[in-house]
This record gives sequence, C-alpha cells and structure tokens, in this order.
Amino acid sequence: MALTVYRERDANLPKLRNTPVAVVGYGNQGRAHALNLRDSGVSVSIGQREGAGFRQAELDGFEPMSIDQVVQQADLLIISLPDECAGEVYEKLVGPNLRPGQVLGFVHGFNIRYSFIKPPDHVDVIMVAPKGPGTLLRSSYEEGKGIPALMAIHQDASGHAKRIALAWAVGIGSARAGIIETTFAAETEADLFGEQVVLCGGISALTKAAFETLVDAGYAPELAYLECVHELKQVVDLLYERGLSGMREKISNTAEYGDVTRGTRVIGEESRQAMKKILADIRSDQFAKEWIDEYRSGGETFRSLHKKDEDTLYEQAGEQVRALMPWLNK
Ligand SMILES: NC(=O)c1ccc[n+]([C@@H]2O[C@H](COP(=O)([O-])OP(=O)(O)OC[C@H]3O[C@@H](n4cnc5c(N)ncnc54)[C@H](OP(=O)(O)O)[C@@H]3O)[C@@H](O)[C@H]2O)c1
Repeated sequence: MALTVYRERDANLPKLRNTPVAVVGYGNQGRAHALNLRDSGVSVSIGQREGAGFRQAELDGFEPMSIDQVVQQADLLIISLPDECAGEVYEKLVGPNLRPGQVLGFVHGFNIRYSFIKPPDHVDVIMVAPKGPGTLLRSSYEEGKGIPALMAIHQDASGHAKRIALAWAVGIGSARAGIIETTFAAETEADLFGEQVVLCGGISALTKAAFETLVDAGYAPELAYLECVHELKQVVDLLYERGLSGMREKISNTAEYGDVTRGTRVIGEESRQAMKKILADIRSDQFAKEWIDEYRSGGETFRSLHKKDEDTLYEQAGEQVRALMPWLNK
C-alpha cells in the first residue's frame, strides 16, 4: 500500500499560531507537544489536575488550569491522558464543555478506535501520533530534527480537520521526518501489536527466557545479562540506522551464521501462531476490553504482574552491569 507522506510545505503553521491550543494532560507526550508547539510560535495552554504534571507545567513556564477550564477556552484540544483513564476524564470534564467548531486531537487512537470516547458530530476529531516517546519527541525537536508521526482524521465537521492536523504535526517537528497519513484503527491496532509482540512484551519475554537459560546452566548472572540484555542496544541501534542487511554487515560472520540458522528456531511457527492470536484479540476489541475492565476494577492483577518482575536476579544483574558504567545512571 502506497503511503501518503506530508512535509512542511503541505501545512499552514502560521494559521495554527492564531488558534488557541490546549494540551490536556502534561505527562510524557503532553509535555513534548506543549513545549514543541510553544517553541514553534503557537499559543498553548495546559489543562492539568493538581499534582506532578501541574508542578512540571509551572516549572516550564506555563500557568496550568483545570481541564474543564481549558476546554472552554481553547479551539484545538490535544488529549494526552493515559489511555485507560481518558474515557472517564472525557465524560466528566471534556465532553460536557465542548462547543461546535472545536477540534479534539488525540496522540494515540485507542479511545476513538474502541469507542470509549464518542465525540459529538459538531467537532473535528483528528490524531497526530508521533512514533516515539515524549522525551525523544522533545530532544529531537531541540536538535533541529524530528520523529515521524502518523496523522488521521476521524471526523471532519469543519472541513478544515486535515489542515489543522498537518499544522499541529509540523509544529511538533514531525514534518522534518515525515507525516504519514493513516486511520485511527490502523494506528491503534499496529501500535498495540508492535508493543505487545516486539517492543515491550516480546523483548521482555525473550531477554528473560534467554537470561534464565544461561543462569540455569551455571553461567554468572552478570555475564548472562551482558550477553542477552545489555548488548541488545548496540544491535538495535544498527538495525535502526541501517536495516537488517546493514546490521548483518556490521556483526561478525559467526554471529550472522548463528542468526540465519538459529533465529527461526526461537521464533518459529508456534510464535507466529501466538502473534496471530494476539492480533486477533486486538482487532476484535478483546484486549482493549480486558485492559479497561482491569483498570476500572482497581488494577490489582496489573500491579501484581508488575511487582513480580521487580527485584529478580535479572534486575539485580542489570544493576551490577550498569554500575560498571556510571554515565548510564541518568
Ligand atoms: N509515554 C510516551 O511517551 C508515549 C508514546 C507514544 C504514545 N503515547 C500515548 O500518549 C498518551 C498519554 O500517555 P503518557 O504516557 O504521556 O501519559 P502519562 O505521562 O502517564 O500521563 C499524562 C498526564 O495525565 C494526567 N492524568 C493521569 N491520570 C489522570 C486522571 N485520572 N485524571 C486527570 N489527569 C490524569 C497525569 O497527571 P499527573 O501528573 O497528576 O499524574 C499526566 O499529566 C497515551 O495515549 C499514550 O498511549 C505515550
């Protein structure tokens, strides 16, 4: 499928400079959107509950307001709340204060794709989802670079939804890397799949299983950690910068022979079937429903699974390895 990629020339950033913008939720993503847009000359206000995000917004020179207050003032509302609570915050503080002509902007499609948020017909609903963490979105902008963003239009009540989305994406620096047009459904489903199968779930399970295999066979935990976890970054950096073939050019022939003859033994047919099942659960809404039910019923299972991986031999070995390199201790 051919992708439509937009650049700076396709957008009208000066027009956004005349639009009051509010970032709702000053966390990882929200802070980066707010700071980048402000540095791009856009007038940004912050809607944030009392607490850590509120204090950070003040430290960054904003005068944060309550969420219902900014919703009444701004024309473009960038919702950057955690996915699991955005629905209930929207119900209480955003939805009741919306007026015709406003634009609801999302940084991820979850709540629209799964209908936890159902905006009225009289607002535009758009998404600009940068493909990376907020810290990188901010630091790359400051370096004069950017990270790619996915852009989508769910509802175009005004007839100007795309113009606004493009200007927002340019304002956060993403046009420097490319603004790719997609849909809320494709962004959400591919994002969840990537994080469950590779970026978070896959990598956690793979490195834990490999680490434990070496330790169970009698190797020192620190050695196992160095080989199966710590060095991952170096190989991932090569993959990021050069692709698979480019990465293989930079590793030894022994490493590459092991790669091409052994990799599919680890991730074989069984894993592919598991991936298909995970994708089916994402597409059928089963995962989203399970996650929101878990959050709304108190999150006990989530907390105990999180705790299970704390203070393990894997984590202790990691601490020992990182202690060798104090510069890693940010
Ligand atoms: N983490 C990333 O860089 C990243 C990357 C890609 C996409 N995203 C997407 O960006 C969105 C925001 O995620 P995030 O990681 O940036 O969120 P976050 O940092 O965990 O939190 C965002 C903000 O929401 C506020 N908040 C949390 N619970 C709230 C509640 N019940 N009522 C009102 N405000 C509440 C927090 O306030 P307090 O400070 O008071 O807790 C915080 O300021 C999500 O859709 C996520 O999928 C995030």
